[in-house]
Parts: sequence; C-alpha cells; structure tokens
Amino acid sequence: MADKSLKVLWLLHGVNLDMLGRRAQEHYGTVTLDEVCEAVRARALERGFEVRCFQSNHEGRMVEQLHALARGDEPVDAVVFNPGAWTHYSWAIHDALELVAAPVAEVHLSAVEGREEWRRMSVVADLAVVRVSGKRLDGYLEAVDRLAELVAGGPPS
Ligand code: DQA
Repeated sequence: MADKSLKVLWLLHGVNLDMLGRRAQEHYGTVTLDEVCEAVRARALERGFEVRCFQSNHEGRMVEQLHALARGDEPVDAVVFNPGAWTHYSWAIHDALELVAAPVAEVHLSAVEGREEWRRMSVVADLAVVRVSGKRLDGYLEAVDRLAELVAGGPPS
C-alpha cells in the first residue's frame, strides 16, 4: 500500500533504454535499467519520495503516460526523465511533457554535448528545471537530490 507521507517521483525512460547493459559501454557503462531504478528508489526514499519506474519504446505510449500524469490519474510530485533519442527530435514528447505540472529533471547517462552534433539538441531542455548529463548513474542521484531540494522549497538544512 502507498505510504501517504511520501511524495511520488516518476522515473521515466524512453526508447532503447530497456537495453542498458548491452548498449555502447563507453557511453552508458554497464548499468542495467533495473539497477538504475533500484538506485534511484533507494536515494529517493532517503529524500522522502516513493519511486514509480516506467519505460517505453513507443512514443505514443510515453505520451499517454505523460497525459495520465498531467490529468492527475496518477500522483506525481517530481519527474526524472531520460527520453533517449526522443530527446533530440520528438516535439510530441515535448508537448506532452509540457502538460505535466511537476518539476522535471532531464538526465542522460552519456555526455551528449560531446558526442555527435545531432545529440547536442534537446527539445525538452526548456521544460527541465534540472539537467544532468555525462555522469552515468550518479547523474540520476544528483537529479533526485536537486529535485528534492526544489520540492521542499530550498536546500535541506
Ligand atoms: C541518452 C543519450 C541519447 O542521445 C541516446 O539516444 C540515448 C541515451 C543518454 O542517456 O545518454 O538513448 O539519453
């Protein structure tokens, strides 16, 4: 049963991120998606959040999940989002994310700015209050910490 004293953080992963652990290790390391979810869950719990993990390779399914969060069908107090390649071109994901009122952190495992030219563009950057890239798993933990500070209304005492 949900613990009502905890806020709800959604950890969203887009296309191809279910294949972490098998993808180019020089960019993404060896961590699997389940390991990312568990590490985020542990850090988030320390910060007063329960975590709900969602991944899809289907853009429309992700759009529908964002709509559910926007409508309040599911509680949401913060979002950590790695949209994968959608980051670089999906205005549909941008427009759906724009509907979600909760603060969003955009996270990338790899240092997208230093890779191919086309990865430098993020269509969701304007919607993110926190952006972290190139820190692999630590980047997610940093995003959780920074969102927790924002949701609490300032840095922890
Ligand atoms: C990624 C970077 C994207 O360019 C790429 O398409 C991904 C993963 C990252 O986490 O570094 O799938 O978002």
